[in-house]
Amino acid sequence: MSSLKVALLGFGTVGSGVYQTVQSHQQRLQSLLGRKVEIAGVLIKNTNKKREIDSHIVVSSDIEDILNIPDLDVVIEAIVGVEPGYTYISKAIEKGLHVITANKELIAHRGDVLRDKAKKHQVRIEFEAAVAGGIPVISTLKHLLRVNQVQRIEAILNGTSNYILTHIRETQSSFGDSLRLAQDNGYAEADPSNDIDGWDAFYKLMVLSDLLFRKQPKWEQVIHQGIRHITLEDIIAAESIGCKIKHVATIERIGEHVQVKVEPVLLSGSHPLYSVEGVENAVIVSGDIVGNVKLEGPGAGALPTASAIIEDLVNLYHFTEKELPKDEISYVTGLQLEEQSWF
Ligand code: HSE
Repeated sequence: MSSLKVALLGFGTVGSGVYQTVQSHQQRLQSLLGRKVEIAGVLIKNTNKKREIDSHIVVSSDIEDILNIPDLDVVIEAIVGVEPGYTYISKAIEKGLHVITANKELIAHRGDVLRDKAKKHQVRIEFEAAVAGGIPVISTLKHLLRVNQVQRIEAILNGTSNYILTHIRETQSSFGDSLRLAQDNGYAEADPSNDIDGWDAFYKLMVLSDLLFRKQPKWEQVIHQGIRHITLEDIIAAESIGCKIKHVATIERIGEHVQVKVEPVLLSGSHPLYSVEGVENAVIVSGDIVGNVKLEGPGAGALPTASAIIEDLVNLYHFTEKELPKDEISYVTGLQLEEQSWF
């Protein structure tokens, strides 16, 4: 049987993590999918940079070179920002290729348009890696939503912020030193302002809002705040009263309204997010039947994110060989998403 041909768009932390995982887990993938997974092309930005990529793979900075690779099956997008990802993914979908993306900013901005495009061209767009790194939060929610109405999600969604807050507290280090370590570990984005100003967690929450309610609140009405202004003194003061400062994203259904917030909060020792440390993310989902479900795990980094992407790949091809899985969630309609009170 011919191999499953994959193109990687981007070869940064996430792209190279996927490349490495496909190589290290080839046998396992082959036994799951019944055929070899072949990275057939890699889209890069800087052609002068030296990379460890097999010489038989098409490596180009031109998207057309990549999308024109014969018999390509799926595109994995691991670029940051709405563009050029949106244009590249649109082209891939129009060519009839399945798409897997880790790009939360893109899915938060244009997920609805891409979903419609994918439907029209009878392909799938999957984005497990876009929220909470290696934690399978999207697939768990899809399962829960089949029978539960989700009332509330409370989560730590930015690994970098949680790493910085933990590192400052544990080592009494400065904010700048802690951020640099998060970057060295491949947790923070190249431009870390999305992480430390709360945008990364905000985009992830918008992706969850779409999944839960098929709509998002008006962005300008959601007050969100990052951790840039948090100091060692703030953290010590919190500790002196038995609390920790955590960056928490919340989405909650209250009657016919939905309240959304992303902000640093003081958590006492009894709160289930209090013990979530370092680059870990955690998501507490409250369903009307199941009650509270807590998911916790690595929220950023090359291999956890690659794990989520490869899960999408396996799920996609397990099903598409037989039949396309339907979007089986029935959504509650008529909910209003609006501004919440700040504190
Ligand atoms: N920069 C992100 C974070 C990466 O720190 O959570 C994973 O989305």
